[in-house]
Amino acid sequence: MPNLNSRIREVLAPVSAYNSDIEIVESKGSWVTDAGGKNYLDFTCGIAVTNLGHQHPDVKTAVLEQIDRLWHAGGSFRFDSKIRAAEALREVTPEGIEQFVFVNSGGEAIEAAIKMAKITTKRQGIVAFRGGFHGRTMGALSYTTSKAFYRQGYHPMVPSVFIAPFPHPYEWHMDQEEADQWALDELERIFRHDVAPKEVAAFLIEPIQGEGGYYPASSVFMHRLRQLADQHEILLIVDEVQTGFGRTGNWFAVDRLGVLPDVIVLGKAIANGFPLAAVGASTQQMAAWPSGSHGSTFGGNPISCAAAAATIKTLDKVIPRVPLLAAHASARIEEIAQQRESIGDVRGAGLMIGIELSGNDGKPDAAAMAHVKHQAIEAGMFILSCGPDSNVIRFVPPLTVNEADLDLGLDIIDQALASYED
Ligand SMILES: Cc1ncc(COP(=O)(O)O)c(C=O)c1O
Repeated sequence: MPNLNSRIREVLAPVSAYNSDIEIVESKGSWVTDAGGKNYLDFTCGIAVTNLGHQHPDVKTAVLEQIDRLWHAGGSFRFDSKIRAAEALREVTPEGIEQFVFVNSGGEAIEAAIKMAKITTKRQGIVAFRGGFHGRTMGALSYTTSKAFYRQGYHPMVPSVFIAPFPHPYEWHMDQEEADQWALDELERIFRHDVAPKEVAAFLIEPIQGEGGYYPASSVFMHRLRQLADQHEILLIVDEVQTGFGRTGNWFAVDRLGVLPDVIVLGKAIANGFPLAAVGASTQQMAAWPSGSHGSTFGGNPISCAAAAATIKTLDKVIPRVPLLAAHASARIEEIAQQRESIGDVRGAGLMIGIELSGNDGKPDAAAMAHVKHQAIEAGMFILSCGPDSNVIRFVPPLTVNEADLDLGLDIIDQALASYED
Protein backbone atom coordinates (compact mmCIF):
# COMPACT_ATOMS: atom_id res chain seq x y z
CA MET A 1 0.00 0.00 0.00
CA PRO A 2 1.53 3.41 -0.99
CA ASN A 3 1.98 5.85 1.87
CA LEU A 4 -0.75 8.23 2.99
CA ASN A 5 0.67 11.31 1.28
CA SER A 6 0.97 9.66 -2.10
CA ARG A 7 -2.60 8.33 -1.79
CA ILE A 8 -3.72 11.87 -0.92
CA ARG A 9 -1.93 13.26 -3.97
CA GLU A 10 -3.71 10.70 -6.17
CA VAL A 11 -7.31 11.30 -5.13
CA LEU A 12 -7.72 14.43 -3.02
CA ALA A 13 -7.81 17.77 -4.80
CA PRO A 14 -4.96 20.01 -3.63
CA VAL A 15 -7.30 22.98 -3.24
CA SER A 16 -8.11 21.77 0.30
CA ALA A 17 -4.95 22.59 2.22
CA TYR A 18 -3.75 20.86 5.40
CA ASN A 19 -1.99 22.43 8.34
CA SER A 20 0.33 19.40 8.59
CA ASP A 21 0.99 16.13 6.79
CA ILE A 22 0.53 13.98 9.89
CA GLU A 23 -2.08 11.23 9.98
CA ILE A 24 -4.08 11.17 13.19
CA VAL A 25 -5.72 7.90 14.12
CA GLU A 26 -7.01 8.52 17.65
CA SER A 27 -8.11 11.39 19.86
CA LYS A 28 -9.16 12.05 23.42
CA GLY A 29 -9.62 15.31 25.30
CA SER A 30 -6.82 17.73 24.46
CA TRP A 31 -4.71 15.04 22.76
CA VAL A 32 -4.48 13.29 19.40
CA THR A 33 -2.28 10.34 18.40
CA ASP A 34 -0.60 9.74 15.07
CA ALA A 35 -0.26 6.48 13.16
CA GLY A 36 3.15 5.86 14.75
CA GLY A 37 1.77 6.26 18.29
CA LYS A 38 3.15 9.77 18.94
CA ASN A 39 0.85 11.99 21.03
CA TYR A 40 0.24 15.66 20.28
CA LEU A 41 -1.56 18.37 22.17
CA ASP A 42 -4.29 19.62 19.86
CA PHE A 43 -4.36 23.36 20.43
CA THR A 44 -6.13 23.92 17.10
CA CYS A 45 -9.42 22.27 18.12
CA GLY A 46 -10.00 21.60 14.41
CA ILE A 47 -10.06 25.41 13.96
CA ALA A 48 -11.94 26.36 17.15
CA VAL A 49 -14.49 23.55 16.93
CA THR A 50 -13.85 20.91 19.60
CA ASN A 51 -14.22 23.31 22.53
CA LEU A 52 -15.03 20.32 24.78
CA GLY A 53 -12.01 18.41 23.51
CA HIS A 54 -12.11 15.23 21.46
CA GLN A 55 -14.46 12.33 22.19
CA HIS A 56 -16.36 14.11 24.96
CA PRO A 57 -18.47 11.39 26.64
CA ASP A 58 -21.64 13.52 26.91
CA VAL A 59 -21.60 14.29 23.19
CA LYS A 60 -20.72 10.70 22.31
CA THR A 61 -23.64 9.34 24.34
CA ALA A 62 -26.08 11.77 22.73
CA VAL A 63 -24.83 10.91 19.25
CA LEU A 64 -25.01 7.15 19.80
CA GLU A 65 -28.54 7.43 21.19
CA GLN A 66 -29.64 9.46 18.17
CA ILE A 67 -27.95 7.13 15.68
CA ASP A 68 -30.12 4.28 16.93
CA ARG A 69 -33.28 6.28 16.32
CA LEU A 70 -33.01 8.47 13.23
CA TRP A 71 -30.05 9.89 11.38
CA HIS A 72 -31.62 11.76 8.46
CA ALA A 73 -34.90 13.55 7.92
CA GLY A 74 -34.30 16.32 5.38
CA GLY A 75 -37.45 18.39 5.31
CA SER A 76 -39.64 15.29 5.13
CA PHE A 77 -40.70 15.04 8.75
CA ARG A 78 -40.23 16.47 12.20
CA PHE A 79 -38.01 15.12 14.95
CA ASP A 80 -37.05 16.01 18.47
CA SER A 81 -33.28 16.66 18.48
CA LYS A 82 -33.62 19.73 16.25
CA ILE A 83 -36.15 21.25 18.64
CA ARG A 84 -33.93 20.43 21.61
CA ALA A 85 -30.94 22.07 19.90
CA ALA A 86 -32.97 25.22 19.19
CA GLU A 87 -34.36 25.32 22.74
CA ALA A 88 -30.84 24.97 24.13
CA LEU A 89 -29.63 27.78 21.85
CA ARG A 90 -32.47 30.04 22.92
CA GLU A 91 -31.39 29.61 26.55
CA VAL A 92 -27.82 30.76 25.93
CA THR A 93 -27.94 33.27 23.05
CA PRO A 94 -28.32 37.00 23.73
CA GLU A 95 -31.66 38.50 24.69
CA GLY A 96 -33.96 38.92 21.69
CA ILE A 97 -32.59 35.91 19.80
CA GLU A 98 -35.55 33.54 19.85
CA GLN A 99 -35.72 31.36 16.75
CA PHE A 100 -33.16 29.47 14.70
CA VAL A 101 -32.62 28.01 11.29
CA PHE A 102 -30.06 25.24 10.95
CA VAL A 103 -27.63 24.74 8.08
CA ASN A 104 -24.38 22.80 7.61
CA SER A 105 -21.48 25.23 7.81
CA GLY A 106 -20.54 28.71 8.92
CA GLY A 107 -20.32 29.98 5.35
CA GLU A 108 -23.77 28.63 4.61
CA ALA A 109 -25.14 30.28 7.74
CA ILE A 110 -23.70 33.61 6.55
CA GLU A 111 -25.44 33.15 3.20
CA ALA A 112 -28.70 32.48 5.02
CA ALA A 113 -28.34 35.49 7.33
CA ILE A 114 -27.63 37.82 4.41
CA LYS A 115 -30.55 36.46 2.40
CA MET A 116 -32.81 37.02 5.39
CA ALA A 117 -31.49 40.56 5.84
CA LYS A 118 -32.10 41.40 2.18
CA ILE A 119 -35.56 39.97 1.88
CA THR A 120 -36.85 41.32 5.19
CA THR A 121 -35.46 44.85 4.84
CA LYS A 122 -36.01 45.03 1.06
CA ARG A 123 -32.56 46.61 0.85
CA GLN A 124 -29.46 45.36 -0.99
CA GLY A 125 -26.39 46.94 0.59
CA ILE A 126 -24.24 45.05 3.06
CA VAL A 127 -21.51 46.72 5.11
CA ALA A 128 -18.79 44.26 6.15
CA PHE A 129 -15.48 45.02 7.85
CA ARG A 130 -11.93 44.79 6.52
CA GLY A 131 -10.08 41.77 7.87
CA GLY A 132 -13.31 39.84 8.41
CA PHE A 133 -13.68 36.19 7.51
CA HIS A 134 -17.15 34.83 6.83
CA GLY A 135 -16.52 31.77 4.67
CA ARG A 136 -15.56 30.97 1.11
CA THR A 137 -18.77 30.31 -0.79
CA MET A 138 -19.31 33.01 -3.40
CA GLY A 139 -21.61 35.15 -1.23
CA ALA A 140 -19.65 34.71 2.00
CA LEU A 141 -16.41 35.38 0.11
CA SER A 142 -17.80 38.72 -0.99
CA TYR A 143 -17.82 39.84 2.67
CA THR A 144 -14.47 38.17 3.46
CA THR A 145 -11.37 40.37 3.36
CA SER A 146 -9.05 38.64 5.82
CA LYS A 147 -6.62 37.86 2.99
CA ALA A 148 -6.70 39.02 -0.63
CA PHE A 149 -5.54 35.52 -1.61
CA TYR A 150 -8.95 34.05 -0.77
CA ARG A 151 -10.58 36.40 -3.29
CA GLN A 152 -7.85 36.28 -5.94
CA GLY A 153 -9.13 34.83 -9.21
CA TYR A 154 -12.75 34.73 -8.08
CA HIS A 155 -13.94 38.21 -9.01
CA PRO A 156 -16.49 39.60 -9.54
CA MET A 157 -17.90 39.38 -6.04
CA VAL A 158 -21.53 39.85 -5.10
CA PRO A 159 -22.35 43.52 -5.76
CA SER A 160 -23.35 46.23 -3.25
CA VAL A 161 -20.95 45.07 -0.54
CA PHE A 162 -19.16 47.95 1.17
CA ILE A 163 -16.03 47.20 3.17
CA ALA A 164 -15.48 49.49 6.16
CA PRO A 165 -12.35 49.51 8.31
CA PHE A 166 -12.30 47.35 11.45
CA PRO A 167 -10.13 48.98 14.16
CA HIS A 168 -6.66 47.40 14.09
CA PRO A 169 -4.71 49.47 16.62
CA TYR A 170 -1.47 47.46 16.44
CA GLU A 171 -1.35 47.46 12.65
CA TRP A 172 -2.24 51.15 12.44
CA HIS A 173 0.15 52.25 15.22
CA MET A 174 -2.74 53.81 17.11
CA ASP A 175 -4.26 53.30 20.52
CA GLN A 176 -7.68 51.68 20.70
CA GLU A 177 -9.53 54.97 21.06
CA GLU A 178 -7.87 56.55 18.01
CA ALA A 179 -8.39 53.41 15.94
CA ASP A 180 -12.09 53.24 16.88
CA GLN A 181 -12.58 56.88 16.01
CA TRP A 182 -10.81 56.59 12.68
CA ALA A 183 -12.81 53.51 11.70
CA LEU A 184 -16.11 55.15 12.72
CA ASP A 185 -15.26 58.30 10.76
CA GLU A 186 -14.57 56.15 7.70
CA LEU A 187 -17.90 54.40 8.13
CA GLU A 188 -19.64 57.78 8.17
CA ARG A 189 -17.74 58.65 4.97
CA ILE A 190 -18.98 55.42 3.35
CA PHE A 191 -22.53 56.53 4.18
CA ARG A 192 -21.84 59.98 2.74
CA HIS A 193 -20.03 58.91 -0.44
CA ASP A 194 -20.67 55.26 -1.29
CA VAL A 195 -24.08 54.10 -0.14
CA ALA A 196 -26.97 55.83 1.59
CA PRO A 197 -27.71 54.14 4.92
CA LYS A 198 -31.31 53.67 3.86
CA GLU A 199 -30.04 51.24 1.23
CA VAL A 200 -28.06 49.15 3.70
CA ALA A 201 -29.71 45.94 4.87
CA ALA A 202 -27.10 44.90 7.42
CA PHE A 203 -23.81 45.40 9.16
CA LEU A 204 -21.96 42.08 9.18
CA ILE A 205 -19.21 41.88 11.79
CA GLU A 206 -17.16 39.43 13.85
CA PRO A 207 -16.95 40.82 17.41
CA ILE A 208 -13.41 39.44 17.43
CA GLN A 209 -11.90 38.96 14.01
CA GLY A 210 -10.67 35.38 13.82
CA GLU A 211 -8.93 34.43 10.61
CA GLY A 212 -8.10 38.16 10.19
CA GLY A 213 -5.69 38.13 13.14
CA TYR A 214 -7.62 37.90 16.44
CA TYR A 215 -8.47 41.59 16.63
CA PRO A 216 -11.22 42.26 19.19
CA ALA A 217 -13.75 45.03 18.56
CA SER A 218 -14.02 47.42 21.50
CA SER A 219 -17.25 47.94 23.37
CA VAL A 220 -17.23 51.59 22.19
CA PHE A 221 -17.04 50.54 18.55
CA MET A 222 -19.76 47.89 18.84
CA HIS A 223 -22.10 50.23 20.75
CA ARG A 224 -21.68 52.89 18.08
CA LEU A 225 -22.52 50.31 15.39
CA ARG A 226 -25.62 49.36 17.39
CA GLN A 227 -26.63 53.05 17.52
CA LEU A 228 -26.11 53.52 13.78
CA ALA A 229 -28.07 50.32 13.12
CA ASP A 230 -30.98 51.61 15.22
CA GLN A 231 -30.83 55.07 13.68
CA HIS A 232 -30.95 53.79 10.09
CA GLU A 233 -32.98 50.58 10.64
CA ILE A 234 -30.02 48.45 9.59
CA LEU A 235 -29.74 44.91 10.98
CA LEU A 236 -26.70 44.20 13.14
CA ILE A 237 -25.54 40.70 12.21
CA VAL A 238 -22.79 39.30 14.42
CA ASP A 239 -20.75 36.42 13.09
CA GLU A 240 -19.97 34.38 16.22
CA VAL A 241 -18.93 31.31 14.26
CA GLN A 242 -15.44 31.38 15.79
CA THR A 243 -16.04 33.42 18.95
CA GLY A 244 -19.04 31.40 20.12
CA PHE A 245 -19.74 28.71 22.66
CA GLY A 246 -17.56 29.82 25.54
CA ARG A 247 -14.42 30.54 23.58
CA THR A 248 -14.11 34.09 24.98
CA GLY A 249 -15.18 33.21 28.53
CA ASN A 250 -18.83 34.10 27.88
CA TRP A 251 -21.27 32.17 25.80
CA PHE A 252 -20.75 34.73 23.04
CA ALA A 253 -18.31 37.59 22.49
CA VAL A 254 -21.14 40.14 22.34
CA ASP A 255 -22.11 39.20 25.92
CA ARG A 256 -18.79 40.64 27.06
CA LEU A 257 -19.37 43.80 25.05
CA GLY A 258 -22.93 44.31 26.28
CA VAL A 259 -24.34 44.72 22.76
CA LEU A 260 -27.51 43.01 21.58
CA PRO A 261 -27.40 41.89 17.93
CA ASP A 262 -30.44 41.53 15.66
CA VAL A 263 -29.06 38.40 14.08
CA ILE A 264 -26.45 35.92 15.31
CA VAL A 265 -24.56 33.49 13.09
CA LEU A 266 -23.29 30.32 14.76
CA GLY A 267 -21.20 27.34 13.68
CA LYS A 268 -17.92 25.58 14.48
CA ALA A 269 -18.16 24.61 18.22
CA ILE A 270 -21.97 24.42 18.20
CA ALA A 271 -21.93 20.60 18.08
CA ASN A 272 -18.31 20.00 19.13
CA GLY A 273 -17.26 18.65 15.74
CA PHE A 274 -20.47 17.41 14.13
CA PRO A 275 -21.35 19.53 11.10
CA LEU A 276 -23.93 22.13 12.05
CA ALA A 277 -24.41 25.89 11.87
CA ALA A 278 -27.31 28.18 12.65
CA VAL A 279 -28.77 31.64 12.26
CA GLY A 280 -30.73 33.10 15.17
CA ALA A 281 -32.97 36.16 15.32
CA SER A 282 -36.17 37.38 17.00
CA THR A 283 -39.49 35.66 16.32
CA GLN A 284 -40.67 38.82 14.60
CA GLN A 285 -37.63 38.96 12.34
CA MET A 286 -37.93 35.28 11.42
CA ALA A 287 -41.67 35.67 10.74
CA ALA A 288 -40.86 38.15 7.96
CA TRP A 289 -38.75 35.54 6.12
CA PRO A 290 -41.10 33.74 3.71
CA SER A 291 -41.46 30.07 4.65
CA GLY A 292 -39.71 27.73 2.19
CA SER A 293 -37.71 30.52 0.53
CA HIS A 294 -34.48 29.14 2.01
CA GLY A 295 -33.45 25.65 3.05
CA SER A 296 -31.01 22.77 2.71
CA THR A 297 -31.30 18.97 2.51
CA PHE A 298 -28.84 18.22 5.30
CA GLY A 299 -29.29 21.38 7.41
CA GLY A 300 -30.18 20.46 11.00
CA ASN A 301 -29.14 16.83 10.72
CA PRO A 302 -30.65 14.79 13.64
CA ILE A 303 -27.25 13.56 14.86
CA SER A 304 -25.62 16.98 14.65
CA CYS A 305 -28.59 18.48 16.50
CA ALA A 306 -28.38 15.84 19.24
CA ALA A 307 -24.66 16.62 19.52
CA ALA A 308 -25.45 20.36 19.74
CA ALA A 309 -28.01 19.92 22.53
CA ALA A 310 -25.50 17.83 24.53
CA THR A 311 -22.61 20.21 23.78
CA ILE A 312 -24.55 23.24 25.00
CA LYS A 313 -25.64 21.45 28.19
CA THR A 314 -22.07 20.40 28.97
CA LEU A 315 -20.58 23.80 28.10
CA ASP A 316 -22.77 25.32 30.78
CA LYS A 317 -20.58 23.55 33.34
CA VAL A 318 -17.33 24.23 31.50
CA ILE A 319 -17.61 27.94 30.66
CA PRO A 320 -17.28 29.22 34.27
CA ARG A 321 -13.75 27.74 34.26
CA VAL A 322 -12.69 29.60 31.12
CA PRO A 323 -11.90 32.99 32.71
CA LEU A 324 -9.64 31.27 35.25
CA LEU A 325 -7.78 29.33 32.59
CA ALA A 326 -7.62 32.47 30.44
CA ALA A 327 -6.11 34.51 33.29
CA HIS A 328 -3.53 31.79 33.83
CA ALA A 329 -2.68 31.61 30.11
CA SER A 330 -2.56 35.39 29.68
CA ALA A 331 -0.21 35.84 32.64
CA ARG A 332 2.17 33.22 31.20
CA ILE A 333 1.95 34.71 27.69
CA GLU A 334 2.76 38.17 29.09
CA GLU A 335 5.78 36.64 30.83
CA ILE A 336 6.91 35.03 27.55
CA ALA A 337 6.32 38.31 25.68
CA GLN A 338 8.66 40.11 28.11
CA GLN A 339 11.45 37.75 27.09
CA ARG A 340 10.80 37.10 23.41
CA GLU A 341 11.43 40.06 21.13
CA SER A 342 9.55 38.46 18.25
CA ILE A 343 6.23 38.98 20.09
CA GLY A 344 4.87 42.32 18.92
CA ASP A 345 1.36 42.20 20.35
CA VAL A 346 -0.94 39.98 22.41
CA ARG A 347 -4.71 40.40 22.14
CA GLY A 348 -8.02 38.58 22.33
CA ALA A 349 -10.44 37.43 25.02
CA GLY A 350 -10.78 34.27 27.08
CA LEU A 351 -9.07 31.35 25.37
CA MET A 352 -9.07 33.10 22.00
CA ILE A 353 -5.66 34.73 22.12
CA GLY A 354 -3.64 36.09 19.22
CA ILE A 355 0.13 36.41 19.65
CA GLU A 356 1.45 38.55 16.81
CA LEU A 357 5.02 37.86 15.72
CA SER A 358 6.93 40.82 14.30
CA GLY A 359 10.48 41.53 13.21
CA ASN A 360 12.74 44.23 14.71
CA ASP A 361 11.26 46.64 12.18
CA GLY A 362 7.75 45.92 13.53
CA LYS A 363 6.78 44.20 10.26
CA PRO A 364 4.87 40.87 10.27
CA ASP A 365 7.24 37.92 10.68
CA ALA A 366 5.67 34.94 8.91
CA ALA A 367 8.96 33.00 9.12
CA ALA A 368 8.75 33.11 12.92
CA MET A 369 5.25 31.67 12.78
CA ALA A 370 6.29 28.91 10.36
CA HIS A 371 9.16 28.06 12.72
CA VAL A 372 6.84 27.92 15.76
CA LYS A 373 4.39 25.64 13.92
CA HIS A 374 7.17 23.30 12.83
CA GLN A 375 8.90 23.20 16.23
CA ALA A 376 5.57 22.67 17.97
CA ILE A 377 4.86 19.60 15.85
CA GLU A 378 8.32 18.25 16.63
CA ALA A 379 7.65 18.81 20.35
CA GLY A 380 4.19 17.25 20.12
CA MET A 381 1.66 20.04 19.63
CA PHE A 382 -0.52 21.33 16.81
CA ILE A 383 -0.99 25.09 16.64
CA LEU A 384 -2.55 27.40 14.05
CA SER A 385 -1.75 30.78 12.63
CA CYS A 386 -4.01 33.60 11.52
CA GLY A 387 -3.79 37.14 10.13
CA PRO A 388 -3.33 38.41 6.58
CA ASP A 389 0.41 37.67 6.82
CA SER A 390 0.03 34.35 8.68
CA ASN A 391 2.22 35.71 11.47
CA VAL A 392 -0.18 35.54 14.41
CA ILE A 393 -0.22 32.51 16.71
CA ARG A 394 -3.88 31.55 17.01
CA PHE A 395 -4.08 30.23 20.56
CA VAL A 396 -7.30 28.18 20.83
CA PRO A 397 -6.87 25.28 23.25
CA PRO A 398 -9.88 23.19 24.25
CA LEU A 399 -11.90 24.85 27.02
CA THR A 400 -11.59 21.58 28.94
CA VAL A 401 -7.77 21.68 28.93
CA ASN A 402 -6.13 21.10 32.31
CA GLU A 403 -3.57 23.54 33.70
CA ALA A 404 -0.65 21.18 33.22
CA ASP A 405 -1.42 20.77 29.49
CA LEU A 406 -2.02 24.51 29.14
CA ASP A 407 1.41 25.17 30.64
CA LEU A 408 2.99 22.49 28.47
CA GLY A 409 1.56 24.11 25.33
CA LEU A 410 2.80 27.55 26.36
CA ASP A 411 6.25 26.15 27.20
CA ILE A 412 6.42 24.63 23.71
CA ILE A 413 5.60 28.03 22.18
CA ASP A 414 8.18 29.74 24.41
CA GLN A 415 10.89 27.25 23.46
CA ALA A 416 10.03 27.50 19.77
CA LEU A 417 10.36 31.28 19.91
CA ALA A 418 13.61 31.00 21.86
CA SER A 419 15.08 28.71 19.20
CA TYR A 420 13.91 31.13 16.46
CA GLU A 421 15.58 34.08 18.14
CA ASP A 422 18.89 32.23 18.78
C1 LIG B 1 -15.98 33.92 11.82
C2 LIG B 1 -16.22 32.87 10.79
N1 LIG B 1 -17.31 32.92 10.02
C3 LIG B 1 -17.56 32.00 9.09
C4 LIG B 1 -16.70 30.96 8.88
C5 LIG B 1 -17.00 29.93 7.82
O1 LIG B 1 -17.32 28.75 8.43
P1 LIG B 1 -17.23 27.36 7.61
O2 LIG B 1 -15.79 27.09 7.41
O3 LIG B 1 -17.89 26.37 8.54
O4 LIG B 1 -17.98 27.56 6.35
C6 LIG B 1 -15.54 30.85 9.66
C7 LIG B 1 -14.58 29.75 9.44
O5 LIG B 1 -13.43 29.80 9.80
C8 LIG B 1 -15.29 31.83 10.63
O6 LIG B 1 -14.19 31.80 11.40
